[in-house]
Amino acid sequence: MKFITFGKPSLYPGELKEITNTLKSGWLGTGPKSYKFEKNFSNYTNSKYSLALNSCTAAIFLTLKHLGLKKGDQVITTPLTFCSTVSSILHVGATPVLADINQETLNIDPQEIEKNITTKTKALIIVHFAGKICDMQSIRKICNKYNLFLIEDCAHAIETKLDNKNAGTFGDFGCFSFYVTKNLSTGEGGMIISKKKKAIQELRTLSLHGMDRDAWKRYGKSGFKHYDIVRAGFKFNMSDIHASIGIHQLNNIEKAWKKRELIWNTYMKAFKNLPVVLPKKIPTNEKHSYHLFSIIVKSNKVREKLLNYLQKNNIGCGVHYKSINKYKFYKNKIINRKKNLIADKIGETILSIPIYESLRKNEIKFIVDKFKKFFE
Ligand SMILES: Cc1ncc(COP(=O)(O)O)c(C=O)c1O
Repeated sequence: MKFITFGKPSLYPGELKEITNTLKSGWLGTGPKSYKFEKNFSNYTNSKYSLALNSCTAAIFLTLKHLGLKKGDQVITTPLTFCSTVSSILHVGATPVLADINQETLNIDPQEIEKNITTKTKALIIVHFAGKICDMQSIRKICNKYNLFLIEDCAHAIETKLDNKNAGTFGDFGCFSFYVTKNLSTGEGGMIISKKKKAIQELRTLSLHGMDRDAWKRYGKSGFKHYDIVRAGFKFNMSDIHASIGIHQLNNIEKAWKKRELIWNTYMKAFKNLPVVLPKKIPTNEKHSYHLFSIIVKSNKVREKLLNYLQKNNIGCGVHYKSINKYKFYKNKIINRKKNLIADKIGETILSIPIYESLRKNEIKFIVDKFKKFFE
């Protein structure tokens, strides 16, 4: 068996043609394709407004910047996340505060959030881990009670829903990732969604140098127009080449989701008697995005052995995630009031195996057989 990569995007009919058309159009920057992708993304997520960017990291950072978060402010987040959720908080000068996860869902625990609220707490960044929706009812209540901004890191959660309401639409802002391993990939890319028109307009300006006009309109057929700089902005906009990929990835997202559901169910059935902890049953009022198939094993020793074994057998795997407080860099930059986090133990014993649309039948069977063999 050739090496099975951990995550791989599919190539869809029309995608190459769209990219070629964009290349031939003479405009590669942010323009009509990016706007089309934004519109389609709003439709898909049932959100009012979308802003396409070059990453989810940019989306989170820009949102915090837009909200005016600064030194002295505290932002509560989960320890079981990718580093950039936490680094974005540091980049605006605020302090990340860790609230532990729930052992069953692996999502941030609302009770732990409330324990960590102080007069300095301004916002909450939650992560729908692996594609499982957080406890939105409790979290919304907390945000209302303490008047906190709510940012949903939806890097894993494009298709995720609760009671038919999309992840990313519960809070003030939803931030998405289109990185190479994500359910929708543009190579690199991200999106912010919100119901606040003015906020998205301001974020758009902030994402492109602080200009009051889009660059492509300056070079368009209406001719050159002077622009003003209204803020010190950044360069986080999405190009039309990336958006061309995104449009077709989005058109096929439900088809890809169905295939991942099939793989998910195959793994659940095949591994049910193994000495591992599998993802919990999905409640009927939830839609899981099936972004990560994460398995928890008995000890860190077993996890490391298993990672090596899979790698040696040409099966790509990953660790999502080592608990944030275990990285040396963050040690004196974050507030972590609890001594032993549930996330610490999970972070030492969790691993993820491939789950994506283009996995072939024989590859799935190979993964299942090898995985089971390890525990024999
Ligand atoms: C939970 C989470 N947040 C943020 C990010 C950052 O996304 P991007 O690579 O698009 O910046 C990732 C990417 O892996 C992620 O998994």
